[in-house]
Amino acid sequence: MIAAMPENVVPDTVGGLVLAAGKGTRMHSLKPKVLHELLGEPMLWYVHQALQPLFGEKYWTVLGFGADQVLARLPDVAQRHVLQPQQLGTGHALQCAWPTLREAELTHVLVVNGDTPLVPPAALANLVHVALEAGASVAFLSIILNDPAAFGRVVRHSDGEVAAIVEAKDYDRAKYGYPTGEINAGIYLLQLDLVEPLLQQLGNNNRSGEYYITDLIGLAKAAGHTVLAENVSAEGMDPQDAILYLGVNSPAELVTAEEYLRRGIASAWAARHVLLRSPDLVRIGPRVQLQPGAELHGPCEVYGQSHIAQGALVMSHCWIKDALLDAGAVLHPFSHVEQAHLHAGAVAGPYARLRPGAVMEQGSRVGNFVEMKKARLGPHAKASHLTYLGDADIGAGTNIGAGTITCNYDGTRKHLTKIGEHVFIGSNTALVAPVQVGDRALVGAGSVITDDVPEDTLALARGRQVIKSKKPAP
Ligand code: UD1
Ligand code: CA
Repeated sequence: MIAAMPENVVPDTVGGLVLAAGKGTRMHSLKPKVLHELLGEPMLWYVHQALQPLFGEKYWTVLGFGADQVLARLPDVAQRHVLQPQQLGTGHALQCAWPTLREAELTHVLVVNGDTPLVPPAALANLVHVALEAGASVAFLSIILNDPAAFGRVVRHSDGEVAAIVEAKDYDRAKYGYPTGEINAGIYLLQLDLVEPLLQQLGNNNRSGEYYITDLIGLAKAAGHTVLAENVSAEGMDPQDAILYLGVNSPAELVTAEEYLRRGIASAWAARHVLLRSPDLVRIGPRVQLQPGAELHGPCEVYGQSHIAQGALVMSHCWIKDALLDAGAVLHPFSHVEQAHLHAGAVAGPYARLRPGAVMEQGSRVGNFVEMKKARLGPHAKASHLTYLGDADIGAGTNIGAGTITCNYDGTRKHLTKIGEHVFIGSNTALVAPVQVGDRALVGAGSVITDDVPEDTLALARGRQVIKSKKPAP
């Protein structure tokens, strides 16, 4: 096992580089591979999370295919990215980044493939340490698998010294022998002064017609440099943990990596006294915060910067993102909640839709098929059935009848509906915004309210019922 590394262990002349310009052909997707998500965060986000403890901001990302999409999804990358206009291979990606690394006056760079989301920071720090200690010009992480599959294979001389990395496509058994299962994880530490001349020597005479970063190993060896493979399997790693070091290339591999991560997060929260029922069906993102005593029933999904407090309850089939559930808040099944805040004791669902800006104050209630967007429901106010509350402010203790609609959109702009405290809105009311209803007012069922309703009044805005005798049947 790799011992946990204290922070700031990496000398400040070492920087980081993430290779993330590839298309990810095997994903068969319109977006770049590194934007594919695990538990609501892009693959690339995880790689950056692994680099930050080592380098702070001192790392760069090579972008190419879908660079605009990456920058839109992860805007922070904008300040620290390098473009690889054509994706001519991992070696070419490194060549594109080289002037930037040189300008930063680094002695070494840690290069990480952008499709390795689970890599632990401690393993990266360890590679830096052993490589610096050995004075290696090129070092990389290797791992032993039962089946080397499509990964680059580590070829060693009979004395055990590393000779080269040979890509699966180019692997010739007659030449290299039966593969040992030792593969390249795609994580390298390079000494800039020594690698620079080798970088010019990279060719693309291989089965892919690409410039391979992996050819640096053979070139460094041939130049008489120290080359080091840090084998993370060597000290008896649990085989299921090998996934931490493996690149994600296909939808199936993405799901396997995500499931590994999901399991780890769920058991970590369970260990911190969060009650997860059907824990194998609970999906919790890496930025979510849960308090001991919170309760979640699977299947459910909680993503982004959500926070669920002690005594809050999320029942099954809920989807939650960037939401706050205070103590004792309850979400009944099948509710969809994004950027909403349920204060203490607020209760929503089943089948509630709380959209960005929905605020349910203490003890308020939202029932089935109620949608809220940019709307506040005051303390103990209720909207129990079939209602849309958009751009609305609703005071304490008010009751919103079934089928109420705030008509907030005039085709061009959005307008506010303001409803006071202890108001009673009758069923099937349309409130045509901008409009205000004063405290303690009563609005008759079926009204279309276009003018303000003063406090303590009764408003009726509907056709009067008429009763006529039926025509006799012919
Ligand atoms: C690569 C390694 C292989 C290793 C494996 C580990 C090479 C030639 N092979 O193979 O030895 O076992 O990773 O996971 O490096 N990229 C660019 N620009 C390009 C091409 C790729 O930035 O022109 C980026 C991709 O976005 C990706 C990373 O480099 O994040 C690796 O590329 P990928 O095509 O996935 O390499 P593999 O075939 O998996
Ligand atoms: Ca890969």
